[in-house]
Amino acid sequence: MRKKLIAANWKMNKTIDEGLVFVNGLKEKYPKTHPVDVVICAPATMLFPIAEKAIGSRIDIGAQNLFWEPEGAYTGEISARMIVDAGCSYVIIGHSERRQYFHETNEHTRKKIATALNERLNVIFCIGETLEDRNAGRTMDLLRSQLTEGLAGVSDQQLRSIIIAYEPVWAIGTGVTATPEQAQEAHAFIRGLVRSGYSEKSAETIRILYGGSVKPDNIDELMACPDIDGALVGGASLKLDSFLKLINYGGMGL
Ligand code: PGA
Repeated sequence: MRKKLIAANWKMNKTIDEGLVFVNGLKEKYPKTHPVDVVICAPATMLFPIAEKAIGSRIDIGAQNLFWEPEGAYTGEISARMIVDAGCSYVIIGHSERRQYFHETNEHTRKKIATALNERLNVIFCIGETLEDRNAGRTMDLLRSQLTEGLAGVSDQQLRSIIIAYEPVWAIGTGVTATPEQAQEAHAFIRGLVRSGYSEKSAETIRILYGGSVKPDNIDELMACPDIDGALVGGASLKLDSFLKLINYGGMGL
């Protein structure tokens, strides 16, 4: 049975103080016995202090990006080792905003994933189609190429550190959510790709998150889908009361 994971993606929001207040509040309301795993992916500036604050809780901290070189003259970039050093155990790779605004390609995601795995980070690997792709009937082809090119060279054993996030670009920050049927169809397809590329066991154990306008009022129906193992949440993860509703979806942990 796959354990559900709710990950917050704070994107470029919050100061250190705001992050600390949030994590402190979450720590109080997220008991160690809670059935859902929680990861907070925060801006780089606050990773160290919030990771320190999360010590003694089951909250994991993640970065939102990294650079694939181990060190050197790469002004403005952050390595996998630095992310581990700051207290993180997760990193998001291949988010559609990175692909769109920073021209990240599948080859870039492949290198970033390889580096992250080398440093024993867990990877939340994002894939998803644009509205144009969906309307042109290219969704499944696109998911296949993002997945297989990004995971090229990743072994069956390494795959245990990978979490896939299916995020249709047209549903991110738009208030439009994929219907549970659309999301389930994509998730089942992705799980099938893992089955054919790796093994039955990997397909059954890998967690596939849904992302794109997940909110307290639509999370229950999404989490009820058999191949949806959690959510990657932007906007609705910024306020503690809303995030608590998400991790307690369907009465979980209450
Ligand atoms: P959203 O963002 O929940 O604000 O749509 C999700 C994401 O981009 O990861």
